[in-house]
Amino acid sequence: MSERSMLCLLATATAVAVLTGCTSTKPSAPGGTEVELVKSGKLMTCTHLPYEPFQIRKGNAIVGFDVDLVDLVAKKLKVTQEIVDTPFEGIQSGEDLNTRKCDLAAAGMTITPVRAKNLDFSAGYFDATQALIAKKGSSLTSLAALKGKKLGVQQGTTGETYAQKHAPGVTAVQFEDLALMLTAVKTGQVDAAVGDNGVLFEYVRKNPDTEVTAEFDTGEKYGIGVRTGNDALRKEINSVISKAKSDGSYDRIYKKWFPAAPKK
Ligand code: ARG
Repeated sequence: MSERSMLCLLATATAVAVLTGCTSTKPSAPGGTEVELVKSGKLMTCTHLPYEPFQIRKGNAIVGFDVDLVDLVAKKLKVTQEIVDTPFEGIQSGEDLNTRKCDLAAAGMTITPVRAKNLDFSAGYFDATQALIAKKGSSLTSLAALKGKKLGVQQGTTGETYAQKHAPGVTAVQFEDLALMLTAVKTGQVDAAVGDNGVLFEYVRKNPDTEVTAEFDTGEKYGIGVRTGNDALRKEINSVISKAKSDGSYDRIYKKWFPAAPKK
């Protein structure tokens, strides 16, 4: 037996196991009681509003695709989901998870190698790509066409990184949230903006004076984030996602939030 697996045996699925990087072999109790939650009886979700249709405030409630998906996890754990709206930077850096602000992060967040160093991701649950939005009839159909013009980007996002790499000579204008960025496109404060296809298509559907003029095929996948080493919760999330995909609940949630989307 290797020294490492010996250590793992000794660690007996306690905090020590987390520190030594062992996988707990303890079977998950019914209802997943092995999962430790920040607040008893709650599954605390960090997100950054608004990100329609993934998370959006409707009256007193926060609803959306991600909310419905995480509700399935909460149901499995026999708790209720409570959502914390917080800047995207603290979500994607892993800080909010490390400081126990939340149990998980569900924010239309792309799985990236850099982020995976600071938090652990569930399996991918949604395909996304970067896209360009502009006022209708602008003919700004590529980043090259934006030379010398203003391009809106959302702070800390993969869209911002994409623009930094692929839009030389374009003036990037940073926005803290999606709504501010999209309003800036609508009012002409910026010439165009780069962002996730799902949210941009939702916006143009409701704002026909704008259009999506390009998609960049970045091949992104959204993942749900948990604190590094929180395997108990990550495994529950993964099993819920895979069950949802096989029992039809994923499709039901997908159709609810993307009624106009072409069948994938
Ligand atoms: N998918 C992009 C990223 O991960 C944007 C996510 C922004 N999400 C949000 N809820 N504000 O960088």
